[in-house]
Amino acid sequence: MSSKDNVFYWLPCSVVFVSTAHGGKRDIMTATAMFVSEKEPLMVISVAKDHLTEKLINQSGKFTLIIAGQDHRQLAMQVGSTKGEATDKFEKFSIPTVSQPGGNAPVPEGAAAWMVCDVESSQDIKGYRLFIGRVVDQHDTGAPPLVWQKDKYFGLKPV
Ligand SMILES: Cc1cc2nc3c(=O)[nH]c(=O)nc-3n(C[C@H](O)[C@H](O)[C@H](O)COP(=O)(O)O)c2cc1C
Repeated sequence: MSSKDNVFYWLPCSVVFVSTAHGGKRDIMTATAMFVSEKEPLMVISVAKDHLTEKLINQSGKFTLIIAGQDHRQLAMQVGSTKGEATDKFEKFSIPTVSQPGGNAPVPEGAAAWMVCDVESSQDIKGYRLFIGRVVDQHDTGAPPLVWQKDKYFGLKPV
């Protein structure tokens, strides 16, 4: 199946960053996310196994989900195509961050919103690990979000 026939390619996705920190290491990667329930603040992400992001979530039991802002297109490509194992992406790409309470993963400036999540459950499936996170802290900046579909980035506008 080519990527053009694959539904993952068709589905418009909110571009998010998953930011993690544990034991002196930190990482950030581009991903997408979905809410699980409208009744409870539960979010699900799918993270490739054995990447640093997956390891830091397993070790810390938490992650910060950042809804990318419209100006984050370049950052989404940078941290979505670089492995954090060998290099600190925050330093490599000189990512300015918003001050966070101690222990929380860094948040890039310009985000539309972010949510600090505690892992509620996780499950392996075909090389990925699904993490369901309970939002324990949240912040909406009001900045417009970034969307991804068919290998292109978009903004939102009312219809
Ligand atoms: C738009 C976009 C969406 C992505 N979504 C995911 C995703 O949902 N899950 C995933 O594991 N990787 C996803 N990736 C790829 C990761 O961001 C990429 O493999 C990253 O380098 C992993 O970082 P790490 O090795 O530091 O953990 C996406 C990349 C892009 C550009």
